Amino acid sequence: MAAVTSPLLVLLLQAVVSMVTSQNPEPRPTAHLVAADVSARRAVEWLLKQRLEDWGWGSDTPRAVLALQLANISPWFVPDNLESQLSGKQMELEILLHLWRHHDSAMTPGRLAQYTLALNAMCRDPRQFHGHDLIGSLQHHEPELDFEFAFSSLAVCSSGAHVRKRQIKRLMDIADRASDHNVDTLSMVLLALSCITRDHRNRNLDHYVKKPSSGLAEEQRVDGSFGNLHSTALAVQALEIADAELSSNGGNSGPVNWNRSSAINYMISHQAPDGSFGDVFSTTEVVLGLGSHHLNSIRDLNCTGSNTGAAFAASVPRLRPPTATMLSPTAVANADLNLTVEGTTPRENPKGEEFVTVTYTLWVGTNVTENFTITVMAEKNSSFYRVMQIAAEQDAHYLFEATEWPNGHYVHTIAGYKEEPSCYHYWLLYQVPTLPEPASPPGNNLVTPVGVDGLVVEDGDHYLFWYKKL
Ligand SMILES: *[C@@H]1O[C@H](CO)[C@@H](O)[C@H](O)[C@H]1NC(C)=O
Ligand SMILES: *[C@@H]1O[C@H](CO)[C@@H](O)[C@H](O)[C@H]1NC(C)=O
Ligand SMILES: *[C@@H]1O[C@H](CO)[C@@H](O)[C@H](O)[C@H]1NC(C)=O
Ligand SMILES: *[C@@H]1O[C@H](CO)[C@@H](O)[C@H](O)[C@H]1NC(C)=O
Ligand SMILES: *[C@@H]1O[C@H](CO)[C@@H](O)[C@H](O)[C@H]1NC(C)=O
Ligand SMILES: *[C@@H]1O[C@H](CO)[C@@H](O)[C@H](O)[C@H]1NC(C)=O
Repeated sequence: MAAVTSPLLVLLLQAVVSMVTSQNPEPRPTAHLVAADVSARRAVEWLLKQRLEDWGWGSDTPRAVLALQLANISPWFVPDNLESQLSGKQMELEILLHLWRHHDSAMTPGRLAQYTLALNAMCRDPRQFHGHDLIGSLQHHEPELDFEFAFSSLAVCSSGAHVRKRQIKRLMDIADRASDHNVDTLSMVLLALSCITRDHRNRNLDHYVKKPSSGLAEEQRVDGSFGNLHSTALAVQALEIADAELSSNGGNSGPVNWNRSSAINYMISHQAPDGSFGDVFSTTEVVLGLGSHHLNSIRDLNCTGSNTGAAFAASVPRLRPPTATMLSPTAVANADLNLTVEGTTPRENPKGEEFVTVTYTLWVGTNVTENFTITVMAEKNSSFYRVMQIAAEQDAHYLFEATEWPNGHYVHTIAGYKEEPSCYHYWLLYQVPTLPEPASPPGNNLVTPVGVDGLVVEDGDHYLFWYKKL
């Protein structure tokens, strides 16, 4: 008992000490709140509500901690957030109690890998975990199942530990026989290899990524899925990474041939009204699939400077891979710039140029306590951002404020209402089939899949910006 009492005491003391640290302000939004972000935020909100009194999630604690850390979404993901630290402590207690009762041999490699990934994500070193070397234990039992093997290799790599040549060879062999393996195994192998290849930049590993990712892409079904929610969430992570790697490494292979937006839509369409995707297990999987930080990027967490919290070193918003309807953000920014500079309301002289007419409605409040509708005429091929500019010139209710990011504008304030991420109040942009009616409000499936710059308006479109609680 004595062996356990002291780490327990240390943990409790640390928890108490961290209670006095103040909370930092909200992190800034890192991307447009497109449909996938809205879905992920609602899922995170649901996950936080499922937290038990001990700050854990029962047997799902490490998955929840890992998904929440990688999701990079407030209110969980704030440096020195007391609540996330308490959940981290709870997880450490669970691991210690497990080690004390059963020794590490009783933990399956999958479970051990899950814990080490979550510890890494919380900036804890699993090699020196209260006197235990969890990575050593992981390396000690090589799993027979290919999926579990790939998962534990990912955990070893994510800790910055050495992945043995023999292990890399086994991963490559699995990748090479792509057609013999299921979606989950292939995805996990790709995730593990993408973590490992960072340490072997000199080698041309494209070959090892190209074949399994093409094989994986072929498994996509007409409904956009890769069989089920769990497999889809894994495959999306693996293919997004493969796309990024294949298009950055010299570019002679090009991206993988799959339909990202239909895979994302498949996941979003399975979200329950309360934000969940079924249970805690499935919800954590989907959060990883929808987010921009995937299972291979735990090493990107910046753990320096904070003994408890973590942050992604790249605070610059990550560009989402382009979808069929998305214009290149720079092209849109330049086009807007030209329109703004020339800005002499060419709408009044519609000769020669083609124009489109759209309606733009504002609603304030989940119960719609204020509403405004304006009809806007804009140059053909205008972005919705352009429509917002024109509306603001015509009616002061439509004045707005936006932050400029490399991937476009992030609208945070309209009509004097500013987003309040801490209480989940956001401006959400919907494209609706008819003029919106508060009596039959649109569902979240109508939230636009791209940001205001990527959205090209067409004649007769109806848009709604709604300030509401997610
Ligand atoms: C992707 O799937 C969607 C349906 O979900 C379809 O509308 C779109 O055309 C597809 N894109 C490509 C490039 O096949
Ligand atoms: C990591 O965080 C520390 C402290 O917050 C900061 O000083 C450092 O620049 C960060 N490193 C990177 C790579 O962002
Ligand atoms: C913007 O205007 C400049 C000068 O008129 C032109 O060179 C440039 O190509 C324009 N950019 C776009 C995206 O139209
Ligand atoms: C919105 O309307 C519902 C039902 O009419 C009511 O229960 C709820 O309190 C209202 N919410 C607000 C914020 O007024
Ligand atoms: C908009 O709000 C006004 C009150 O400000 C109300 O009379 C009207 O019915 C609302 N319009 C719609 C379409 O709900
Ligand atoms: C608008 O888009 C259409 C088709 O997408 C294209 O043919 C046309 O050249 C574009 N017009 C302008 C002014 O960019």
